[in-house]
Amino acid sequence: QPTPFACPFHGSEAGRSFDPFGPAYQADPAEALRWSRESEPVFFSEPLGYWVVSRYDDIKAIFRDPILFSPANALEKITPPSPEAVEVLARANYAMNRTLVNEDEPAHMARRRVLLDAFTPHALAAHRPMVRDLVRGRLDAIVDKGRSDLVADMLWDVPLTVALHFLGVPPDDMDKLRSFSVAHTVNTWGRPSPDQQVAVAEGVAAFWTYSGEVLARMAARVDAGEHPHGWMYDMIAKNRVMPDIVTDNYLHSMMMAIIVAAHETTALASANMFRRLLEDRAQWDAICADPALIPAAVEECLRHSGSVVAWRRVATADAQVAGVTIPAGGKILMVTASANHDPRQFDNPDALDIWRDNAADHLTFGYGAHQCMGKNLGRMEMAVMLEEVSRRLPHLRLEDQAFTYLPNISFRGPEAVWVHWNPALNPAQTAP
Ligand code: HEM
Repeated sequence: QPTPFACPFHGSEAGRSFDPFGPAYQADPAEALRWSRESEPVFFSEPLGYWVVSRYDDIKAIFRDPILFSPANALEKITPPSPEAVEVLARANYAMNRTLVNEDEPAHMARRRVLLDAFTPHALAAHRPMVRDLVRGRLDAIVDKGRSDLVADMLWDVPLTVALHFLGVPPDDMDKLRSFSVAHTVNTWGRPSPDQQVAVAEGVAAFWTYSGEVLARMAARVDAGEHPHGWMYDMIAKNRVMPDIVTDNYLHSMMMAIIVAAHETTALASANMFRRLLEDRAQWDAICADPALIPAAVEECLRHSGSVVAWRRVATADAQVAGVTIPAGGKILMVTASANHDPRQFDNPDALDIWRDNAADHLTFGYGAHQCMGKNLGRMEMAVMLEEVSRRLPHLRLEDQAFTYLPNISFRGPEAVWVHWNPALNPAQTAP
């Protein structure tokens, strides 16, 4: 009778040798797990040391039970740091720990509950005009040019500016934040080579220090009795009255994590969205003709090509998933991109179909107790970008290009999306 830990040595060769840093997963995570969805929905990947789960129902069941399947490893470095990298981080007193997304119950729900006000529909609606102005400004700068990398010209810095505005963080140092974000993603979800480890650790250490400095400046204003706008200010104010729930370490960890969570996710999702819609001219034209289709198109793009393709949990006791025993302590990689392409849940799942009636069932925002708090902010930003671009540049064409991605297991979106159009054919804009 094999012990649960012997399970890794059973299962198929495809499962045992599966490596999400390999070319197949990096090229297309959902496609790379087609065989698993079909025949072996839970397996142990030896190169990764994780149990990989690929079907929709199994992943949703894991999300539904944050006690048996703890999120504690959600922000763990997937590649163990080298001793040199550990030293760099120690010198910066790096102490990134629990935020919300990796906090266990009951601490998580107590904290989440007191931090919800910034996400009410009313609070989110107040950001919409600002997002639209920002997008219009970016478009004004490019409409006469005839060619653009949408990522560089709009899709990266609109979500970053919105995220900083939402958080109340001063919009200084945007370039620095961009490089910090990349370092944080590679550090947490990537596989830096031994040579890259130190450079990545230096980036993360600088990000940690920077986050602490910004936090200290913001906290000083709260302590001086000011009430500036922004979710980080709300958190600092709660910390002052309920430090056991909104802890000091939480503030510093969250300051760093949320800058990435709130903008990189949305920037990558928007890049995926423009790429996919422009690849399917009939659906792009349908949106241009009828902007009422835009919310459904956003949702379908989040399903078909989400910006978060996998998320992690750790089993707190022996657990059954699709008939396989995952032992206590077993780490789990839920490939949500695979769940979103599961034919048991979505008809013809590989086709982009903006008329699909259950696209919103996708798991790109997670599910259950930890489901993304910012999902409606992200959706709104994507919708406004699509509204404005389809209105002002309906004749936009995607250029032939080889899309490149930052190698990592969870965050996915092309690094550039090159498009062109004939400015002489820009529609005259009469609407404001
Ligand atoms: C959590 C994805 C935008 C804030 C999450 C999770 C995912 C995710 C997968 C983990 C869910 C789980 O464990 O069940 C995304 C995607 C976005 C996006 C794909 C954009 C397209 C945002 C934005 C914010 C945000 C704009 C802004 C404020 C958060 C927070 C959590 C979270 C605070 C932790 C919630 C908790 O653990 O209680 N997000 N996110 N996200 N997201 Fe997002």
